[in-house]
Amino acid sequence: MKKNSLNFWSSRAKHKVIAGSNDPYLDICETNMLISFIPKRKKKILDVGCGTGSFLQKLVKKNKLVKCIGIDFSKEMISVANKKNKDNSINYHTLDMRNILELKKKLDFKFDYIITKRSIINILSKNVQLKILDNLGKLLNKNGKILSCECSITDQNNINQHRIKFGLNKIYPPWHNLYFSDNVIKKKKFKNIKLVNIHDFTSTFYFVSRVINALINKQNKSKLHYSDKLNLIGWKLDQSLIKGFSQTKIYEFKKK
Ligand SMILES: C[S@@+](CC[C@H](N)C(=O)[O-])C[C@H]1O[C@@H](n2cnc3c(N)ncnc32)[C@H](O)[C@@H]1O
Repeated sequence: MKKNSLNFWSSRAKHKVIAGSNDPYLDICETNMLISFIPKRKKKILDVGCGTGSFLQKLVKKNKLVKCIGIDFSKEMISVANKKNKDNSINYHTLDMRNILELKKKLDFKFDYIITKRSIINILSKNVQLKILDNLGKLLNKNGKILSCECSITDQNNINQHRIKFGLNKIYPPWHNLYFSDNVIKKKKFKNIKLVNIHDFTSTFYFVSRVINALINKQNKSKLHYSDKLNLIGWKLDQSLIKGFSQTKIYEFKKK
């Protein structure tokens, strides 16, 4: 099978709940954080790169939504999402986010909130990533928002500075990812959206897991696991305790 992003993600669809991430704790934290940002009265939600639909399923359970739409370019992902969608409360479409404006033609409404969960980083061109974010703005209601939960190269670089100091190898984005640069996002003049905030909600966890736990495991010559005790403690700590290491962030935009 050809090594490309679509084949990679399609082959992961069988992993169901962890299809989108090998770290279930990170996934739960991202989902809870995104849900906490969406007011209950907001009814029209789009998940771009929804994978097997775990986020929207959780959201629908907590919030009686009128319209909930998920798109993903992998039909295998969408097929797993649809199997779990027994009451058809969520509408899934197989669609490449690079063609997101096709969705605009199909719908007679716009969205209150558009979320992404580590999906735009799968686009390996910075300019195309920025274009997608801007195009998403065209699908927003007047007071609509984009909550883009993506990985930051800015903070991964900070993690690496500390790893090098302790003799640990540098970590890199996987081959199918291009992480966001915070400065690029801050400086970009979007036509349809405006950056409201960048929420660093995983900083203490990443410092504890990628620096301290990695160092202890290296010294003990043991293997790293997402469920290592120290990682779990990292999640329980206040995430603003240690700043600058939030490899995963929420980039919040509002419609212009
Ligand atoms: C890291 S997974 C996250 C899945 C899901 N958001 C979650 O959190 O479980 C990235 C997802 O983005 C999807 N994706 C990657 N490139 C895409 C594209 N160009 N258009 C639509 N979906 C894409 C993949 O198929 C995959 O389901």
